[in-house]
Amino acid sequence: MAENTPSRVDMEKIVSLCRRRGIIFPSSEIYGGLSSCWDYGPLGVEIKRNVKEAWWRAMVQERDDVIGVDASILMHPRVWEASGHLEGFSDPLVECKGCHQRWRSDELEGDRCPSCGGELTEPRQFNMMFKTFMGPVEDDASVVYLRPETAQGMFVNFENVLNTTRKRLPFGIAQIGKAFRNEITTGNFIFRSREFELMEMEYFVKPGTDEEWFEYWLEERQNWYINLGIKKEHLRLREHEKEELSHYSRRTVDINYLYPMGWAELEGVANRGDFDLSQHASFSGKEITYFDEGTSEHIVPYVVEPAVGVDRIVLAFLCEAYDEEPDKDDIRVVLRFHPDLAPVKVAVLPLSRREPLVEMAKDIYAGLRKCWSVAYDDAQSVGRRYRRQDETGTPLCVTVDFQSLEDNQVTIRERDSMNQIRVPVSELQNALAAKLAGEDLFVLPPGGQVWLEAEKG
Ligand code: GAP
Repeated sequence: MAENTPSRVDMEKIVSLCRRRGIIFPSSEIYGGLSSCWDYGPLGVEIKRNVKEAWWRAMVQERDDVIGVDASILMHPRVWEASGHLEGFSDPLVECKGCHQRWRSDELEGDRCPSCGGELTEPRQFNMMFKTFMGPVEDDASVVYLRPETAQGMFVNFENVLNTTRKRLPFGIAQIGKAFRNEITTGNFIFRSREFELMEMEYFVKPGTDEEWFEYWLEERQNWYINLGIKKEHLRLREHEKEELSHYSRRTVDINYLYPMGWAELEGVANRGDFDLSQHASFSGKEITYFDEGTSEHIVPYVVEPAVGVDRIVLAFLCEAYDEEPDKDDIRVVLRFHPDLAPVKVAVLPLSRREPLVEMAKDIYAGLRKCWSVAYDDAQSVGRRYRRQDETGTPLCVTVDFQSLEDNQVTIRERDSMNQIRVPVSELQNALAAKLAGEDLFVLPPGGQVWLEAEKG
């Protein structure tokens, strides 16, 4: 929940930039949109993919103790009985007796309707799972649910994964996938929607070591954000009070981010104990245990779970990256994305649309596209083209000018500093790779030079 804190960046500006530059659109817009549903456009889909790839790299690829799964969204309805979601996954709902708007009572300040000031009903529990029917008959026997979390796909596959990978404790199972919650109140752009994408990792540990691993993952996850460019002072931890813990949780700490509307939950780290595995064992009648060779005992592991919504991360990185600075009589808008998150890594800009300049620029473009997501832009002045790339966070621009035809060199221009260097085309790919990996622009490749030409507005 958001707490009142002065905001840093205007949400309106983020929403408008996303709309204008093809990052995020309202869903089904030509029909007037669908409340709290969003579509990622050509640049948005790249940002989202980059977030998921960065998470997967850190949580699975670079570790030898975590493996991934991709479970189905529709699961046996008994899963949700066992997990406690059918009974417990609800929020307290109140309705205004005047305008009939519905609100989450735990998020209201005061006891009147925030919209019209009307009197509110007593709270009742509202289950947030989306129901649908499987097969051609719409009766009680065919009811299934769209998953409200991906975690259960990992718990029900615990034995499958254990038997096929022979992992020893502690180990984790990770998953990225869509989740659906019929939220009572939505809003703040993509912060809270009814369809969103989750990235969750269930880390199975020996009981008694859970607190230690909890602290470990809390630290790891904060560092992940900081390494990708979130300022430390824009993150803060919030320990859940006993009364607000989810039905499965022994302990939960939220990693909150300073969004435009104030501090709000970005990610949650929970200690789920043995709740889920024990419940599935009891509901399915199957033994779900781990054989501890040290003690020759079958044990039920405890679970530490870092869980986060991709869309909340995208919003946090957009807010963090957004910057405005004076630019002659205008304002330069820059998304200062970490290169790993930038939707386009390099833009190739021929100084003119004339041949043979275009041919050279297109050749360079075709070569670089094999390595990264690269844009080609030849419309309007080069200054305008730089601004367009700045606004969507492209870290580097490669400019091909008339001199390039003679000396086979091109300039590399850096988004944040607007500094430029000139490098031989033969060194271009390596130089770009080094800069995208964090090398200082002025570390020059063989034959390279600092380029002092002022940026044209
Ligand atoms: N398996 C644990 C779990 O689902 P949660 O705190 O309910 O825990 C995890 O959700 C994360 O999912 C949250 O920290 C948040 O990042 C994201 N999230 C939850 N509800 C969301 C919604 N309606 N829209 C977007 N993201 C949401």
